[in-house]
Amino acid sequence: MTSAEPDLDPGVLAARFPSDFVWGFAASAYQIEGAAAEEGRGRSVWDTFSRVPGAIGDGQTGDVACDHYHRFRDDIALMAGLGAKAYRFSVSWSRVQPDGTGAINARGLDFYDRLVDALLAAGVKPLANLFHWDLPQALQDRGGFADARIVGWFAEYAAVVAQRLGDRVSDWMTFNEPAVFAFLGHADGIHAPGMRDWPTALRVADNQLRAHTAAVAAIRSVVTGARIGIAFDVNQVVPASDTDLDRRAAAQWSAARDAWFLDPLFGRGYPQLGLEAHGNAGHLDGVELTDPPAGDLDYLGLNYYRRDPVSASSDRAFDWTIDARPGTEQTQMDWEVAPDGLRDVLVALHDEYAPREIIITESGAAYPDSVDADGRVRDDLRIEYLARHVAAAAGAVAAGVPLRGYYVWSLLDNFEWSLGYTRRFGLVHVDFATQRRTLKDSARWYGRLITARA
Ligand code: FCB
Repeated sequence: MTSAEPDLDPGVLAARFPSDFVWGFAASAYQIEGAAAEEGRGRSVWDTFSRVPGAIGDGQTGDVACDHYHRFRDDIALMAGLGAKAYRFSVSWSRVQPDGTGAINARGLDFYDRLVDALLAAGVKPLANLFHWDLPQALQDRGGFADARIVGWFAEYAAVVAQRLGDRVSDWMTFNEPAVFAFLGHADGIHAPGMRDWPTALRVADNQLRAHTAAVAAIRSVVTGARIGIAFDVNQVVPASDTDLDRRAAAQWSAARDAWFLDPLFGRGYPQLGLEAHGNAGHLDGVELTDPPAGDLDYLGLNYYRRDPVSASSDRAFDWTIDARPGTEQTQMDWEVAPDGLRDVLVALHDEYAPREIIITESGAAYPDSVDADGRVRDDLRIEYLARHVAAAAGAVAAGVPLRGYYVWSLLDNFEWSLGYTRRFGLVHVDFATQRRTLKDSARWYGRLITARA
């Protein structure tokens, strides 16, 4: 650490935030719950995809994951013990409606009911996310998010969950990272449902924006005073070098990806530069796009992890690669560490779109942690990563960004999608053979940050 680095002491950092700032944890259903075939849960696209040979790096599935479905009380106790004020979880649509529409699985809904009660009893405020990529397979079989009927299906599901939890849950999120679900799942084929078709991906994106609006209306009709948002993964997109080609590619990529969702959400319709990039690459062939209506939201969720350097291979749209540059500081995901980028992205979102509030709905890092002989997990790199990002968030607060909360990804090591269990993001180490949980040093550090102002 050089003297130019900010002070990383948790007490000093905490003092840079308002006393009502919300420090929490984020997680998602398929990544931690397990109990995949229990109590009436239907199959989701991730159950299907994780069984495709070669789809998951370590050949694993989320069948058991962290067994959180059975151990949620212990996991909540861990969070509460650290002083966490809030927890962002996702609801598994296929637990609630195994066929995606119609029949409700009472036992599935009961689980979230127990979860919410246990959180509240522990003094941890729930934030319920309705969609973290695990679409019921039955709906995928009917066209999934590429089919316009999904807007109605999603609103119906949102109403079911809101009716059950809305008397105790006021914080809601419709979608986690619509761009990842649309693009990685339908164009790149590396996430469920594993398709490789850009026109489909752009239909999916469009329907997610419309489904957001429909679901917000559904939640508002049953939950008075609900605070509803949506989370986007906006990383810091930069040209990999200072050439015109790279600069143009970076601008096109952020227009075709980030602004592709944010512009319509804030009532501006699809961005011109993004339309050109997708159009020139043939991604809009056969797609008839009309601008979605502006989305209703109380806060914008930001998931931030890294810097994304864009390197053009030619002047053609999408003929580029996005990779960490050699020699840069990287996490185990091979992601470029860029705390300043967090402040810059927050300030840019505030300047460009002025959402009422912003919440960092995910931020965190994977490192190859292990439990030492004395039972400790010495994850100094994660502590440094967290401290520098928290300091960057404080910089954004000082610059006037209405930032209200910070949810670390994640409480537990978990199923990291196509990488299986090979990447550990938890502040709590999980031994997947025994399900034993061990607080990492970073958990204790974060606990000190959260409780510093108490
Ligand atoms: C985000 C996802 C989350 C987790 C982190 C590392 O893109 O929302 O589920 O995988 O990355």
